[in-house]
Amino acid sequence: MISEAPAKRPVVGVFDSGFGGLTVLRELLHHLPGADFIYLGDTAHLPYGSKSQAAVTRFTSAAIKLLVGRGAELVVVACNTASALALPHLDDGSPVPLLGVIKPGAEAAADAVLSGHAAPLSSTAIVLATEATVASHAYAYACAAYGLLAVEKACPLFVPLVEEGWTDSSVTEQVAAIYLQEALASSAETPSVLLLGCTHYPLLRPLLQRTVQQLLGDVPIVDSAEATARQAALLLPTAAKAGQQEPALHVLATDSPAKFQRLGARFLHRTLPEVEHVELEE
Ligand code: DGL
Repeated sequence: MISEAPAKRPVVGVFDSGFGGLTVLRELLHHLPGADFIYLGDTAHLPYGSKSQAAVTRFTSAAIKLLVGRGAELVVVACNTASALALPHLDDGSPVPLLGVIKPGAEAAADAVLSGHAAPLSSTAIVLATEATVASHAYAYACAAYGLLAVEKACPLFVPLVEEGWTDSSVTEQVAAIYLQEALASSAETPSVLLLGCTHYPLLRPLLQRTVQQLLGDVPIVDSAEATARQAALLLPTAAKAGQQEPALHVLATDSPAKFQRLGARFLHRTLPEVEHVELEE
């Protein structure tokens, strides 16, 4: 009897400037149990959030090329800064679909407003992100498409604080309160939702929840990770069903593999496999 060869599992490439995209990978692993994953963190060029559009586009283009060369059939650009600055320039020339996190993030914010029974039209979202993402206004445009007015606030101290592991420190709490107060001061209306527009910020969610509660009361906090994973499942419906084996995960980094493995575990909530060092060919 001829037995059927098992269906080939799709490979999903996930790209970020560093470790933060592992928060998106976590959701992808959950929503695409029938896929295998290859994750690339461009730690040699981290942070992207303070870099120019030209530099971020160059790095992102090289990273996508590398992931496609390793067999990725879909590339999820998990980095908000790369999604905001580079993706609009790279989408057309790509041999595989590219999925960024900005639109899913805006959609998640609009959904949260709707589930609170307020019409998104005329509602305000506070969007916390890196300097470069805020300067691009990518979230303002994406939110506007859902009828949401975005008040964008750059929070450059959050990434180093999270990487230092200070996710529950009083220093971070003070910084968060200052950022939120500044954002509120430039908002004409009381915001209906807080959108975390950076890969690192979900690790600050409990701290931000406390700060928001003190300043604003019950305002929902959303990020793009889950909405992006749901979108990826629509693009690869066969991978949304669990296969017979666990998803394989291969991790690449452009700087120290040892550091990546150590810090990455905090973002992925589990031990990382051995990390391979790669160079980006720009
Ligand atoms: N991954 C970046 C983002 O989501 C944060 C870290 C960086 O600045 O590179 O915007």
